[in-house]
Amino acid sequence: MKREEIIIPQADLDRQRDFQERIRALFSARGLSPRACVETFGCQQNVADGQRIMGMLEAMGFTFTQEPGEADLVLLNTCAIREHAEQRVFGNLGLLTHTKKERPDQVLVLCGCMAQEERVAKRVRESYRHVDLVFGPQALWRFPELLWQVYETRKRVFSIEDEHGGIAEGLPVVRERGVKAWVSIMYGCNNFCSYCIVPYVRGRERSREPAAVLTEVRQLVDEGYKDITLLGQNVNSYGNDLDRGYHFPELLEDIDQIPGDYWIRFMSSHPKDASPRLFDVMAKCSHVAKQLHLPFQSGNNRVLEEMNRRYTRESYLELIRYAKSVMPGLVLTSDVIIGFPGETEAEAMDTVSLVEEVGFDALFTFIYSPRPGTRAASMPDPVPREEKQRWFDKLLEVQNRRSAAIHAGYAGRTVRVLVDGESGDGDYPLSSRTEGNRLVRLKGDPALIGRFLEVRITGSNTWALYGEPV
Ligand code: 5AD
Ligand code: SF4
Repeated sequence: MKREEIIIPQADLDRQRDFQERIRALFSARGLSPRACVETFGCQQNVADGQRIMGMLEAMGFTFTQEPGEADLVLLNTCAIREHAEQRVFGNLGLLTHTKKERPDQVLVLCGCMAQEERVAKRVRESYRHVDLVFGPQALWRFPELLWQVYETRKRVFSIEDEHGGIAEGLPVVRERGVKAWVSIMYGCNNFCSYCIVPYVRGRERSREPAAVLTEVRQLVDEGYKDITLLGQNVNSYGNDLDRGYHFPELLEDIDQIPGDYWIRFMSSHPKDASPRLFDVMAKCSHVAKQLHLPFQSGNNRVLEEMNRRYTRESYLELIRYAKSVMPGLVLTSDVIIGFPGETEAEAMDTVSLVEEVGFDALFTFIYSPRPGTRAASMPDPVPREEKQRWFDKLLEVQNRRSAAIHAGYAGRTVRVLVDGESGDGDYPLSSRTEGNRLVRLKGDPALIGRFLEVRITGSNTWALYGEPV
């Protein structure tokens, strides 16, 4: 697709703004101040989408509530990555039948990755008749128009055509107050890892213009955000579609020039595209946190090939070796899948041995979950769940031991942290993050929230560090 067809024209965005205004007028003519309850499931990309949805709702005159029972509009921004995430959403939808009986005027919206799946849309159409509006991630920017249709026709609206996906700049946004912000630098995914639903529901890879990203980050720094995460399914392919020799390392270098006291992080990276050049740039850019989330998924080459990951155990280890050599003290995390169809115990143990070899600070571990429509879902999968669970428990045991040992190594050290909120723990009332994004619970006063501080680490466990300001 040509670039002009991907960037959504200003006139189309202005039309959406008109719909926002119309909905606002609809409520104010009746003297109503509508309330919305927005619940987001899943990854940070979805959280970022949810903040845009809230931005649009705010522009329509909505305020927000956590209570579905008090809301004029309930919106579930869903995740499709594993079956469990889908079950939770269907559970929630079931509960919302009661809420809607009490408030017949309530509008119920289902959006996000699940909503893009034909199978899900069909089930909602037939069995969840109280859902008024369904739309997928590519239609997000048209939410005002779709919602207007619901209010005007009082009919159910489904917008789930398979769209290539565009880029909409300048959508309103409601960000979390505090120090952390998310910036999508690209959308979609082209990788088609055989287990993964994302490329089917989020469309093809498309990169935002560097200037748009830079403007947004500059604005966030000006507003006082101090921990900014750049988002994409695979940030390492940023710029491939721009065709002008400008890629993720160049973007990082340009962002790093923005003056201010802040950290830049990014996720996720795909090992097939992460390069030594990226690590050199990370090493030299002072704002870029020395933290890397590099999902390896499996430590066995046959399984990696079946997953369509396009790297090997050896090339992954080489990348890590290089990254550590240019960034001593680099904090490393990763995603792992246990029990891919046809995986044997010996192959799963290759994953465990890779975890031991690398020494990750933390891992996000998943048992394989078949996603209808993906290639892996039709592969023979003879190993029983209990067996996979045993391998999984072994992996967790190894990782937990490692996390605890790495954390114990912080004892007595003085580290710089960003205080990001209250912890809810009486003795250590503050929560903070190191540059490597490790959680430190702190003694100290809530007035410190939002500040960078030097702290001394006094204790730790598998999941957190404990400390006090020096
Ligand atoms: N089953 C289990 N885990 C999955 N992931 C993606 N798809 C699946 C699946 N079908 C995991 C991968 C990915 C993370 C976001 O979710 O590890 O990196
Ligand atoms: Fe899914 Fe692979 Fe794309 Fe990540 S890179 S979103 S795992 S297909």
